[in-house]
Amino acid sequence: TQPNVCIVGSINMDLTVTTDKMPMQGETVLGQDFFTNPGGKGANQAVAAARMGANVKFIGAVGDDPFGKTLLTNFTNENIRTEGIEIVRDASTGTATIILSENDNRIIVASGANQSVTPDHVRKHRNLIITSDLVLLQLEVPLETIVATMEIAKANNVPVILNPAPYQPLPEEILKAAAYLTPNEIELASMKASPLFTSIKDKLIVTRGDKGVSFAEHGIEREISGHSVQVIDTTGAGDTFNGALAAELAGGTELADAVTAANAAAAISVSKTGAQAGMPVKEDIQGFLHERNMSE
Ligand code: RIB
Ligand code: NA
Repeated sequence: TQPNVCIVGSINMDLTVTTDKMPMQGETVLGQDFFTNPGGKGANQAVAAARMGANVKFIGAVGDDPFGKTLLTNFTNENIRTEGIEIVRDASTGTATIILSENDNRIIVASGANQSVTPDHVRKHRNLIITSDLVLLQLEVPLETIVATMEIAKANNVPVILNPAPYQPLPEEILKAAAYLTPNEIELASMKASPLFTSIKDKLIVTRGDKGVSFAEHGIEREISGHSVQVIDTTGAGDTFNGALAAELAGGTELADAVTAANAAAAISVSKTGAQAGMPVKEDIQGFLHERNMSE
């Protein structure tokens, strides 16, 4: 049967401009291209999980505007269930303004409707959580919503993966309740400041870009090396990792194998511009890993 994943998170329209040169303070530069692409960490992770074969149920919000309509259609095209998504009238759909240059991407998120994903909204859709094998969360919706979601999940024995991005200090209850935490290296550095850090070490799955992934398995440190690939756009690579990981773990895959698949999914995803463009389906992963093993 299909693994069930519930995602509570953000939905954004990504407004991307490419440039050779990042503007300095007060400076104007001439860039190259402009794209609008579906994004938002929650939505990106949902697409990654759905492409990996999971039945994904999304709890979130968009505004009553053209971006919102486009993004809802995108979910439907990706076979993601949208009954947990509300269309709110008092806020516009979330956006992310992305400046993309060859070695860098810089993002500013305007949360908009994502701020309307309240604890009450989540409680209203609690059946989507309790009928899932796993819940996947990020930090682009209010922190109290994360807490409320974790309470529902915990009471029903549904494990939660928390991707602590964009980073903010987390209360003890959240760190304790998560089954896995998936920071990148920068987020990890911030987490180390927490007095609770030693107690969460075994839950960490750290994404390190082209250097791969580190995690603990039965208390023992493990590393899975990265893949060298041609990089077009790293936006959403972390999201691809998280969504694929969630789909694999929800389907009962062993941790090390799930991390291996998710690491490959992220490597494949950077070959196309746009967070969701380039995200693989399950067969792509098998092909990619097979090819890599042959050439080693
Ligand atoms: O992780 C990448 C995502 O972060 C982008 O799609 C953007 O919307 C921001 O939320
Ligand atoms: Na991509």
